[in-house]
Amino acid sequence: MTNTKTHPSAQTNYRDYAAPQRADAADTVRAFYQINHTMQTLDFVRSKKAQYLSFKQAVMTPWAALDFLNTLVDDSDPDIALPQLDHLLQTAEAMRANGEPDWMVLTGFIHDLGKVLCLFGEPQWAVVGDTFPVGCAYSNKIVYAEFFASNPDSKRAELQTQLGIYSAHCGLENVHMSWGHDEYLYHLMRPHLPLPALYMIRFHSFYAWHREGDYQHLCNAQDDAMKPWVQRFNPYDLYSKNPNPPKLAELKPFYEDLMAKYLPSEVQF
Ligand SMILES: [Fe+2]
Ligand SMILES: [Fe+2]
Repeated sequence: MTNTKTHPSAQTNYRDYAAPQRADAADTVRAFYQINHTMQTLDFVRSKKAQYLSFKQAVMTPWAALDFLNTLVDDSDPDIALPQLDHLLQTAEAMRANGEPDWMVLTGFIHDLGKVLCLFGEPQWAVVGDTFPVGCAYSNKIVYAEFFASNPDSKRAELQTQLGIYSAHCGLENVHMSWGHDEYLYHLMRPHLPLPALYMIRFHSFYAWHREGDYQHLCNAQDDAMKPWVQRFNPYDLYSKNPNPPKLAELKPFYEDLMAKYLPSEVQF
């Protein structure tokens, strides 16, 4: 199972799990999804929400959290081993160069900030990688879907119907997604950013929905209206992965001002 798309100008294949851009990545990514798909159960997601969504882990400035991200290499990413902050800067700078609205540039700059979960001791399989609904049948469009056979939920018949615990068109806001940086940052940013930004953050790794078109039976009118924003976000996340790091020192004042416009000076993580 691969998700491959070719950038029209660069002719570079990203998200090709059989031929990753990182020479060392194929085995790492496969092993990552084996454990991710085995461990992300409905009960696990509920326990992590109970643990983290009261935001009592730490109080940090947004910059302190970004600095931490620079110590992390994402095992689920077949394409890049750049420091996380460089990826965020590249994503945001590509948006800025295209004249995207400032809240979207900010969203690009912070979209992976939820990976601070690693700072709180979470393993990568509970932080990164493609996301998917739990509590209902798995789409076969999910990368490495064969590994769901070893997920305990696959033996619970009530969780393996098309709707599972949900009702038709209940809206994604009522769906439990696999736990990770997307879900965590979405809840953290809810008071601060507009709805399209929140969709970009929560669903940027939900490829089975925004790229493959699955899970429409769970979606409502709001989800349909917001999906184009998630799709607009995606190429910046994928194709701004450039091995030449942008210059943080020059750009820092701009992003400090942008964060000050939308975010509190200290964030309760
Ligand atoms: Fe991400
Ligand atoms: Fe990203």
